This record gives sequence, C-alpha cells and structure tokens, in this order.
Amino acid sequence: MSETKKIAVLPGDGIGVEVTASAVTVLKAAAATAGLSLEFEEFPFGTDCYRANGTAFPDATRAGCQGADAVLLGAVGSANPTNHDELGLLDLRKALGLYANLRPIKVFSELAHATPFRAEVVQDVDFIIVRELSEGLYYGDRTLTEDRATDECFYTKGAIERLARSAGTVGRERGVKVTSVDKVNVLATSKLWRATFTEVFANEFPDVELEHMLVDAMAMIAITHPGRLGVVATENTFGDILSDECSVLAGGLGMLPSGSFGDPGPALYEPVHGSAPDIAGKGISNPIGAIMSAAMMAEHSLGAPAVARAMEAAVTAALADGARTADLARNGEATVGTQAFTDAVLAHLASPVS
Ligand code: NAD
Ligand code: IPM
Ligand code: MN
Repeated sequence: MSETKKIAVLPGDGIGVEVTASAVTVLKAAAATAGLSLEFEEFPFGTDCYRANGTAFPDATRAGCQGADAVLLGAVGSANPTNHDELGLLDLRKALGLYANLRPIKVFSELAHATPFRAEVVQDVDFIIVRELSEGLYYGDRTLTEDRATDECFYTKGAIERLARSAGTVGRERGVKVTSVDKVNVLATSKLWRATFTEVFANEFPDVELEHMLVDAMAMIAITHPGRLGVVATENTFGDILSDECSVLAGGLGMLPSGSFGDPGPALYEPVHGSAPDIAGKGISNPIGAIMSAAMMAEHSLGAPAVARAMEAAVTAALADGARTADLARNGEATVGTQAFTDAVLAHLASPVS
C-alpha cells in the first residue's frame, strides 16, 4: 500500500456540490481497486460561505489546501455574481501560486454525434488549452466611477516565460505543435507575449513547432478545424472564453476537466463549468468534467496514471451503455440524473483488490 495522499475537497456552490460528490465516489472506487490510499477532507469555500461567514475563502480552507497533496474544487458562484470576492477563486489561485491552467478538449467517440457539429469536424479533436492564470485582466487595478471604468491588463515577462515553458513541455510530451494565441495587432501585452514565446521556444524548445494566431481567428478555427490543434497557449481572459467555446466540441460545458499548476505546492483540479444556478438542486448535472478532473489529479498529483485510465475507461463504458445526462441527450434520447450516471460509471470499475 502506498503512502496516504491528502485531498482537500471544496464542493463550493450549486451543482459544484453534486458533481464533486460524484467525482469523489468514482475516485474512491478506482483508488480502492488499485490499492491507492487516499484521505479526503472537506472545506467551506465560495458564495454560500461568503454569505454565511463574510469570506469566501476562510483561513482554515487556505491552510487545508496548502497542506494537501491536491485540491478538488466543484464550482462557485450564484446567479448574480457582482463581486469576485464572493467567489474566492482568484484568491485561492493566488494562495496556491497557480499559473498554468490545463484544459484538455477530448471528444469521447460515443458523443461525436451529440454535438451541434458534423461528426467529421469533432471526431479527431484532442487538444489542450494552456491558460495563463496569474496575471492579465484578472489581477490588474480597477477603477469605477459613475461615467468611467477601467480594468488594467498587465503581463510580466517572467509570467509569460513560465507559461511558455508549460506549453512547450506539454507540446513536447504530446508530440504536437503549440499555437500561441494573442491580439498582437492591438495590445501591448500581446506584443510582449508574442516576443517572449518566440524567444523561449527558440532557446528551449527548438524541437517543438510554434505558431502564432490572433484570438479572433482562433475563435473561428476552433470550430472549423479543431482537429488541427495540439496545444493552444493563451493569456488569462482569452483562455477563459475560448475554453467555454471549445467545450461544445466535446458535448458541452459539463464535459471539460481542468488542472491548475504552480510550483511548488498542490495543484487544483476542477471542472471548467460554474455553479449552474439554472439547474442546481435538480440532480441533473453532468459530472463528467468533475470525474475527469479527479482523473487528472490521479495522474498528475497522486502518482496513479493507471487509476486515471480506469476512471476514463469507466466513463467511456457508461457512455457506450447509453447513459446520458440531460445536457448530452439528443433527439429524444432517454436521460439519467447525476446519481444514476455516477452509478453507471461505478458499475465499470472493477471490485477492490482484497
Ligand atoms: P455555468 O458554467 O455555471 O453554466 C452555463 C450553462 O451551462 C448553464 O446553462 C448550465 O446549466 C450549463 N452547465 C454548466 N455545467 C453543467 C453541467 N455540469 N451539467 C449540465 N449543464 C451544465 O456559467 P454561468 O451560469 O455563467 O455562471 C454561474 C455562476 O458560476 C456564476 O456565479 C459564475 O461566476 C460562476 N462560475 C464559476 C466557475 C468556477 O467555479 N470555476 C466557472 C464558471 C462560472
Ligand atoms: C473559470 C471561471 C472563472 C474564471 C470565474 C468564475 C472567475 O469562469 O474558471 O473558467 O474566469 O477564471
Ligand atoms: Mn470560465
């Protein structure tokens, strides 16, 4: 039996609670099968926590995350998010020093016909967005008066360099080209971004192909020729928007997992979607993004790639059996709720090793 790994669990708000419960159950089952010893501890975080305690990110949650081997987050937020303090997410990312947010876009072949796209457009899609998470519009100064508002967008060379290294490393591991996305025809931050990417790749990744693309063109290519993409590396805001767009290739926002990395310290794993107030509490949310986030955790933070593969295989098998949450169903297909979908996944995980 391996040494016990500690996982901090932050279910958060809305459907975050449902999909996290599903992901933890599936991870526990897959880990038991592989003899991987895990300890889970839940912490309050997010908008409900803010309303109850005046902070979305209590000190005990911060300490619990910093002391864990990895953090699993559901989602945070309410129907009317007006203040990012209510979410706690930007503070959590900062507290853990996270800067590279990896968002894989992979199409389960069982769902290739379940998207608004022709099957031949989506069937070979298997790329990854590497989103910068520590600077840009998210962390700049803001001003707001009655008739004028500003949001500073800043980037430092060091932050771009480390993100370029993350993207280059992923490109090298996957043996694919890296497309760096910017708005160099307008933005100063993009000029520094493009020059820095060019320099880092020339010096450190001469074996990895680098291309540059303007973000407006990328928004189009992402849905016309997504099969041509390998690694899409971009700044904070562009990465946020492009990932929701690209989720549609995989069947919808409920499908995408993510992992956010800094060094050193625990990584954070969470589905790309939010708290979905429109469906929260109904038990119909799609837990695949959360389950696959836990699979990414098994691979990257728990030293258990076989557990990750088993979880992915079980999700694939549940889809092959025809299990579909409402967001994935097409043409009158029968649907199952979050719990029944989770049970369908669990049915494909082997019994624990005795
Ligand atoms: P959202 O991602 O919560 O939902 C967008 C749409 O996608 C909704 O129609 C929702 O029902 C659907 N959807 C999302 N996830 C789904 C799932 N797993 N299964 C089925 N359908 C799913 O975005 P929103 O409604 O714009 O934002 C709601 C709140 O979530 C806001 O407060 C926002 O700030 C927050 N948010 C948080 C995160 C996060 O925690 N990482 C991410 C995005 C948005
Ligand atoms: C995401 C979310 C967050 C972001 C919000 C809730 C602050 O949309 O993780 O994609 O923009 O980073
Ligand atoms: Mn987002």
